[in-house]
Amino acid sequence: MTIIKAQKGTKDILPADMPVWHFMEEKANEVFSKYGAKEIRTPIFEATELFARGVGDTTYIVNKEMYTFEKSERSLTLRPENTAGVVRSFIENGMHRLSMPVKLWYKGPMFRYERPQAGRQRQFHQVGVEVFGIKQPAADAEVILMAVNYLKALGLNDLSVELNSLGCPKCRDNFKNSLKQVLKPYLGELCEDCQTRYEKNPLRLLDCKVPECQEIFAKPEVRNVIFSDFICEECAEHFNALKSYLDELKITYSVNKLLVRGLDYYNRTVFEIKSNNLGSQNAVCGGGRYDSLVKNLGGEDIPAIGFAMGMERLASLIGKIEETKTTAFVVSNNSAEAIKLSEELRNNGISCEFDFSNKKFVKQIEKASKTAKYAIILGEDELKTGKITIKNLETSEQKTISKDLLLSELK
Ligand code: HAM
Repeated sequence: MTIIKAQKGTKDILPADMPVWHFMEEKANEVFSKYGAKEIRTPIFEATELFARGVGDTTYIVNKEMYTFEKSERSLTLRPENTAGVVRSFIENGMHRLSMPVKLWYKGPMFRYERPQAGRQRQFHQVGVEVFGIKQPAADAEVILMAVNYLKALGLNDLSVELNSLGCPKCRDNFKNSLKQVLKPYLGELCEDCQTRYEKNPLRLLDCKVPECQEIFAKPEVRNVIFSDFICEECAEHFNALKSYLDELKITYSVNKLLVRGLDYYNRTVFEIKSNNLGSQNAVCGGGRYDSLVKNLGGEDIPAIGFAMGMERLASLIGKIEETKTTAFVVSNNSAEAIKLSEELRNNGISCEFDFSNKKFVKQIEKASKTAKYAIILGEDELKTGKITIKNLETSEQKTISKDLLLSELK
């Protein structure tokens, strides 16, 4: 019979990997709680329209990468990211009535139909933060601090923070017009998608992965059209204020004028954190401000900013963490007594296993030494005398004690 395998671009997270995942999840709770963020869990599938309207229907993610299916004549999509879902939930649950800022964090699987490679999967996990209600640049600085401090708590360094400003609709219009002007002579040579983007959303043109289009975008007259040359005074002030906060906080960053991000909802601040120890998929974190998204999805006019990190990429940077051993392993050929004693220990907060197979004691101890700290030997002699032998599996020391003293000895 053929064996059914995991789908291309998906991976099992096995028990041996779990210590790293638990570490990432616990640190997220610990670090983000310090900033007053609360965890939120939103559904894994949403109405397709949420992403078309939220992320943008001319983005690569929405156009090419979504897992979309129909059920009861509704178009549904496995979430490719979680900002749109969190915003939907914020609106639907009336969170605008809470006192601002509202800070939410999340973790969970996301789905993008991408070409799998090292650091890029079709089902991957993100941990992220979204902060609602503050338009001042101090919120941008705090969100970047949350990301940086989370990465520090994971013990990761050799990372670089890149910043840019995507301005506001006003400055963007001037940029779009100039970009369209330089691209006009090449319009017929651009791919079909780019021709649509040219009309509908010229900002997304530069994301195109078609080699012929990239060749055109690499031409000097196109490359010279840089967004930062079009930024308005207010947006420049916001960006400068953010940079001085970061300078005060001693967060090292560089300004990357070409950083545009692949999602439509951003305005003003965008940022990425890259690792110098990953291959081509080196972005561990991406984020930015999205002041119009809540309103565009039918909510109040509430500004927001956030980020998300790829947990598989974080896990590969963290490396291996040893599994914690169970405390006790009951070695016995009397299953009825072993199951009773094991349960008594568990009821007293001590993790415990026993061998169901009634193998020789040496074999059982050998097995115990791989997964447990102590072997609790319950042989015929011990059962008769009401005593028990404890063997420390790390030092091989052992002693026989009265069964009544076992709990205090293990604790
Ligand atoms: P994003 O840049 O699309 O942003 O994704 C954030 C991070 O998720 C990336 O930096 C990367 O680490 C990880 N990631 C993305 N795609 C994959 C993949 N196929 N395989 C493995 N890891 C991946 C967002 O998703 C925005 N929602 C971030 C945000 C939150 N902006 C504001 N708030």
